[in-house]
Amino acid sequence: MQFLLGVLCLSGALTLSPSLPWKRHASLMHGEMSQNHTHPSIAGYPNRCDDLGFDAITPDEQGVTHFFRDEFLWSGFHSPADLINKTWPHLPDHLDAALRMHHKNSPDHHDRMFFFKGNQVWQYRGNIPEGQFLIHDKFPGIPDNLGAAVECPKGDCAEDSVIFFKGDTVYQLDLSTNAVKEKTWPELHHCTASYRWLEKYYCFQGTNFTRFNPITGHVPDGYPKDARNYFMRCEGREHAHKNKSVDVSIYNRCSNRSFDEFNEDELGRMYAFRDGWYFRIDSNRDGWHPWRTNSSWPSLHGKIDAVFSWNSKMYFIQGPNLFIYKTEARYSLIQGYPKPVAEELGIPGTSVKATFICPQSSLLYVIMGNHLQSVNLEQTPKVLGNGFRIAHFHVDGAMCTTKGVYLFVGTKFYKYDSPDQLAAWESSPEPQSISKHFMSCPH
Ligand SMILES: *[C@@H]1O[C@H](CO)[C@@H](O)[C@H](O)[C@H]1NC(C)=O
Ligand SMILES: *[C@@H]1O[C@H](CO)[C@@H](O)[C@H](O)[C@H]1NC(C)=O
Ligand SMILES: *[C@@H]1O[C@H](CO)[C@@H](O)[C@H](O)[C@H]1NC(C)=O
Ligand SMILES: *[C@@H]1O[C@H](CO)[C@@H](O)[C@H](O)[C@H]1NC(C)=O
Ligand SMILES: *[C@@H]1O[C@H](CO)[C@@H](O)[C@H](O)[C@H]1NC(C)=O
Ligand SMILES: *[C@@H]1O[C@H](CO)[C@@H](O)[C@H](O)[C@H]1NC(C)=O
Repeated sequence: MQFLLGVLCLSGALTLSPSLPWKRHASLMHGEMSQNHTHPSIAGYPNRCDDLGFDAITPDEQGVTHFFRDEFLWSGFHSPADLINKTWPHLPDHLDAALRMHHKNSPDHHDRMFFFKGNQVWQYRGNIPEGQFLIHDKFPGIPDNLGAAVECPKGDCAEDSVIFFKGDTVYQLDLSTNAVKEKTWPELHHCTASYRWLEKYYCFQGTNFTRFNPITGHVPDGYPKDARNYFMRCEGREHAHKNKSVDVSIYNRCSNRSFDEFNEDELGRMYAFRDGWYFRIDSNRDGWHPWRTNSSWPSLHGKIDAVFSWNSKMYFIQGPNLFIYKTEARYSLIQGYPKPVAEELGIPGTSVKATFICPQSSLLYVIMGNHLQSVNLEQTPKVLGNGFRIAHFHVDGAMCTTKGVYLFVGTKFYKYDSPDQLAAWESSPEPQSISKHFMSCPH
C-alpha cells in the first residue's frame, strides 16, 4: 500500500515532493500494497495523525525513520507510538533535535545517533549509549537549545556535514574541518525537525513540511505541504493528485520491466534508470523511491540509451544527443549541451545500446547490437576501435565497477570479472536477477 500510494502521488502534479515513503523492509510486496490499514493507536498514547507535529525526526543506522514527540516515538512510517526510552535507554523526553551521522572518515562517529536537548547531546551506537556531552564540547560553534539537525553527507553537500537549525539561523558544520558557517535561509522558517530521506531534505514545522536544497536553502514551488498526506497514513487523508495513466511497472522497482541503464559515479552514487525515472541504489537501507531523472539531472527527460561517468562528469546518450553533467554535490548540465554524440565521442549515437567505463580508466566501451567497441576518451580525435562480439544479442544497459562488468538484459544481469573476460567469453555467465541483487526485491 505504501508504495502504491507513493506511486499514485508521484505520478501526479507533485513530482517534486516526496510521496509516502516506502517502508524499509524490501520484502513489501503486492499483497501488502493492497491493504489499507491506517495507523494503529494505543489508548493513552498519542496518535501521530493529530496536528501536533514532531520534536525531531531521523533515520537510524538501519534506515528506519523515527518520529519523536514528548516522551514518545513512532518507528517507521506506520507503527503505533512507544516510549523513547524503550529503544534508547536513558534518553530524555522532549528532544530538541536528532540525527544519524554519516562520516566514514571518523569511525567513532560514523553511523552514530545523536540526540540533542538543552545544552546536552547524547551519542548512541545502535541502541547502546556511548556518552553524554555538552553540545559546545562535542560540536564547537553550535548553540544550545536547537530547533533541528540533519546530516548532509558528501555527495549531497560538498563534504560530510551536519546542518543545525535554531530560530532563523542555519549552522553548517563541515565535519572534516569542524568549520561552522552561519547562514539565514529566508525560504525556511523555524524548523522544529529536519530530516533527510534518500537524497531529499525536509524541514518540518508542526505537521507542515518543506523540501529544501541543503546547499542553498532554496525551496521548490508548492511547499509547505502537510506531512500527514505523505509521511504517514492517516484516516480521511489521501494524495490529492493522481495520474493513473502512467504505467505502474515503471516505478515499481520489483516489476519485471527492464531497466534502460545502470551507473555508478565517482562519489559512489549508484543509479538504475528506467523510462525517465531513476532509483538510487546505494542508499537502499533508507528505502526506495522512484524520482524523475530531471529532478537530479536538469533537462534530462525520458528514456536514455547509455550513461557513464568519467573525469568527474556524468555522460548520458539519448538518441543522437550527448548530455554532460558536472558531478558535484548536485549535477549541473554543462553549458552548450546536449550536443551530437557522433561529433563529441566519434560514435554513431543512435545505435548505442549501452556504455561502460571501468574505474581509473579512460577507455569507454560501447555496445551496439552484439558488438563491443572501445574509444579512448583521452585521445583527440576520438576514434572507435575495432571491437569484438559478445555473447548477448541484445543488451539494455551496462556498468563497470571495482567488482567487474555487469551487462543488463531484460530482468537479468550477467557479471564478468573484466572487459578481457567479456572479450574472451566461451559461454556466458549464469544470468542473475536484477530485482533481487540490485533492487532488494524477493525475486
Ligand atoms: C479498506 O478499509 C475499509 C474500511 O476499514 C474496508 O471496508 C475495506 O475492506 C478495506 N479494503 C481493503 C482492500 O483492505
Ligand atoms: C521511560 O520514560 C517514561 C516516560 O518519560 C518514564 O516514566 C520511565 O520512568 C522511563 N523509564 C526508564 C527506565 O527510564
Ligand atoms: C502550514 O501551512 C499552511 C499553508 O499551507 C499554513 O496556513 C499553516 O499556518 C501552516 N502551519 C504551520 C504550523 O506552520
Ligand atoms: C498523466 O501522465 C501521462 C503520461 O505521462 C501524461 O501524458 C498526462 O499529461 C498526465 N496527466 C496529468 C493530469 O498529469
Ligand atoms: C511481467 O509480469 C506480468 C504480471 O506479473 C505478466 O503478465 C507479464 O507477462 C510479465 N512479462 C514478462 C516479459 O515476463
Ligand atoms: C521534470 O519534468 C516534469 C515533466 O516531465 C516537470 O513537471 C517537472 O517540473 C520537472 N522538474 C524539474 C525539477 O525540472
